Amino acid sequence: MKSEVLITGGGGYIGSHVVKKFLKEGHKVFVLDNFSTGFRQALDNLKKYGELEVIEADLTDFEKVHQLFSQGPLKAAATVLHFAGALVVSESMRDPRKYFINNLAGSVNLLESMKDAGIKNVIFSSTCAVYGDSQYVPMDEEHPLNPTNPYSESKLMVEKAIKWYADIFKLKYVIFRYFNVIGADHDSDIGYSSYPPTHLVPNAVRGTLGLAPFKVTCANTFNTRDGTPVRDYVDVCDLADAHYMAMLYLEKGGESDIFNLGTGRGYSVYEIIEQVEKLVGKKLDRSPGEARPGEYSESFANFGKASKKLGWKPAATLEKSIRNLVKWFEKNPNGFLEPQVP
Ligand SMILES: NC(=O)c1ccc[n+]([C@@H]2O[C@H](COP(=O)([O-])OP(=O)(O)OC[C@H]3O[C@@H](n4cnc5c(N)ncnc54)[C@H](O)[C@@H]3O)[C@@H](O)[C@H]2O)c1
Repeated sequence: MKSEVLITGGGGYIGSHVVKKFLKEGHKVFVLDNFSTGFRQALDNLKKYGELEVIEADLTDFEKVHQLFSQGPLKAAATVLHFAGALVVSESMRDPRKYFINNLAGSVNLLESMKDAGIKNVIFSSTCAVYGDSQYVPMDEEHPLNPTNPYSESKLMVEKAIKWYADIFKLKYVIFRYFNVIGADHDSDIGYSSYPPTHLVPNAVRGTLGLAPFKVTCANTFNTRDGTPVRDYVDVCDLADAHYMAMLYLEKGGESDIFNLGTGRGYSVYEIIEQVEKLVGKKLDRSPGEARPGEYSESFANFGKASKKLGWKPAATLEKSIRNLVKWFEKNPNGFLEPQVP
């Protein structure tokens, strides 16, 4: 029988794509989610692929999380894949407390509960934003760390907490630093939904499809090709494959490590918008805007370490990722229904 895994934040955008991957590979999957930004509907759509048990809980509730591991169903999990967290940079500049409590304290509660239950393997969703603005590109894992907002600072703090738990309690980890994640499941079982909408590419897709008004307002004063920020856009299904490879790697005794997940290619905001416009066949209005607090000019990945040690490389083209998002929004114009935030 294949091992059982826990996916925190499995109702969210990236987590749900990873849930599908693990179900299709024949693993029993537990999802722990508070559904603050995730969707039960996403998980309902995936139940047909295998054994999926959904637990509604908040990682900041230590007693409850600890009990789920020590006496509840989660004690059987062999690997924990940890996606749960808040991730809106602008919100983190307004409300840093939310980010340190939700992301840092929530993750430490998880690590402590895993440790007490004797669960050794953790795979964590970190971000390229821990590097801040690039000092060189493509950025490898040795690039200096310089978080520029409470969101990325909280993710770096979680990385450090994981390393301490590994040192002291012999936990084993893979930390993934994702670059910008795009795309959607090619069957459109799941895709991107966010209230309020925060990500550039889904907003541009919905705008060009005429589903929601969207005007491109972006600072164009950065030191890049056309003045707009350059980012690396990696496909969500490629990320799901990387997580599966990481689980196998840890199960085979691979050593704890940190890996970038990106495509090695950067696109400016205007270049991305032009790709979406070309694929959908409609233009969006543009006007120059102010740089957002904490925003930086250029980042794209050197993913050589993930290739060498995990055997991963990105497969999707930018066009394919955008086409899957278009397909998703054509079938689900509003994504999933808005979650009921307590
Ligand atoms: N989307 C990106 O481009 C990107 C880039 C880099 C890193 N990441 C990281 O990937 C992870 C997943 O991102 P996503 O885009 O899928 O976001 P998402 O908001 O769609 O998913 C986050 C999930 O975590 C759940 N959650 C949040 N706080 C929780 C808590 N305290 N207890 C239990 N569940 C909680 C939410 O309900 C949601 O289902 C995050 O940790 C994020 O920092 C995302």
